[in-house]
Amino acid sequence: MMKGIILAGGSGTRLYPLTLVTSKQLLPVYDKPMIFYPLSTLMLAGVREILVISTPRDLPGFRRLLGGGERLGIKLEYAEQPAPEGLAQALVIGEKFLGGEPCALALGDNIFYGAGLGRLLTAAAEDAERGLATIFGYYVDRPSDFGVVEFDDNGNVVSVEEKPAQPKSNYCVTGLYFYDGRASSFAKQVMPSPRGELEITDLNKMYLDCGDLRVRLLGRGFTWLDTGTVDSLRNASNFIRDMSFFQKTVVSAPEEIAYVKGWITKKKLLENAEAYGKSPYGEHLRKVAGGRFLEGKLFY
Ligand code: DAU
Repeated sequence: MMKGIILAGGSGTRLYPLTLVTSKQLLPVYDKPMIFYPLSTLMLAGVREILVISTPRDLPGFRRLLGGGERLGIKLEYAEQPAPEGLAQALVIGEKFLGGEPCALALGDNIFYGAGLGRLLTAAAEDAERGLATIFGYYVDRPSDFGVVEFDDNGNVVSVEEKPAQPKSNYCVTGLYFYDGRASSFAKQVMPSPRGELEITDLNKMYLDCGDLRVRLLGRGFTWLDTGTVDSLRNASNFIRDMSFFQKTVVSAPEEIAYVKGWITKKKLLENAEAYGKSPYGEHLRKVAGGRFLEGKLFY
C-alpha cells in the first residue's frame, strides 16, 4: 500500500518575522493553511496513510490542526526532524512508518494545480508499486535556483543536478517524489553534501544509476508554485484567490477530495463544514455536499 510523507520542517528564515513563532507550512495561502496543499496532493494520488514531519517546536500545531486524520478518512502520523538536515532525511526518519512500502514524498511548501493532476499522480503511484521512482519537471526561467532534470528526446532522464551554475535544461525538479520500497535504504546511504544536507537529488541519482528514475513533465495547464519567499507566498495566495474567483471552486480542499474519493460520507463532510463555521471554506464544503456526481465528476 502506497504511503506518503509531508516534510514540513525547516526554520523558514527567509520569511522572518512571519515564521518567528510559527511554522511556514501553517501560514495562510489565501484561504487555508499551507499544509492543506501538499496534503491534497498526496490524497489526490490515492495515498491514505501519511506521516507529517516537522520541527519539535511546530509539530504540536500540525497535530492540533489535522489530528489522526479520521475526519478525512485517512490515517495521519507525526514525527520530529530535530534539525533541517536535508530532504532525503525524511525517508530515514520515516523508515519504520514506511515499512518498505512504496511512497510519495511531498514538500510542505509546494503547491500543484491543474486538470488531470489526479490521473498523473495515480500513474506515478502505480509506477512506484512496480519499482520505479518518479520526479515531476516544470519549466522555469531560473533553473539554477532548483534541482534541474535533463532528459533526452524520448523523455528518459539523462541527469539530475542540485542548483547547478550551468543548468542543462529549463526544467526544475518540483517538490514531489515517488519512490518504490527501496527509498529508506537508499536514503541511508546518502552522504551529507558540502552544505551539510542529505540531498534529495543524491537519492534521485541513485535511482537514475539503477535505471529506475523517470520524469513526468507538468506541461501547459499545470501550475506549480513554491512558497518559500515573501513574494512567492503572496503570488501563491493571489493565484489561489484568482482560481476560486474565476472557476468558482476551491483549490486543494482535503475534505472535498476525501468526499469525492468516497473516503468519507456526506454526513461526515457536513460535520467538517460545520466545524469551519461561517467561513467561505465551510460554505464551500456545504456546496460540495449538495452537489451531484455526473460521469464520475462532482458538479455543484
Ligand atoms: O521546491 C523544489 C526544490 O526543493 C527542488 O527543486 C530542489 O531540488 C530541492 O533541493 C528543494 O530545494 P530548496 O532549496 O527549495 O529546498 P529547501 O532547503 O528550501 O527546503 C524545501 C522545504 O523543505 C522548506 O519548506 C523547508 C523544508 N525542509 C528543508 C530541509 C532542508 C525541511 O523540512 N527539512 C529539511 O531538512
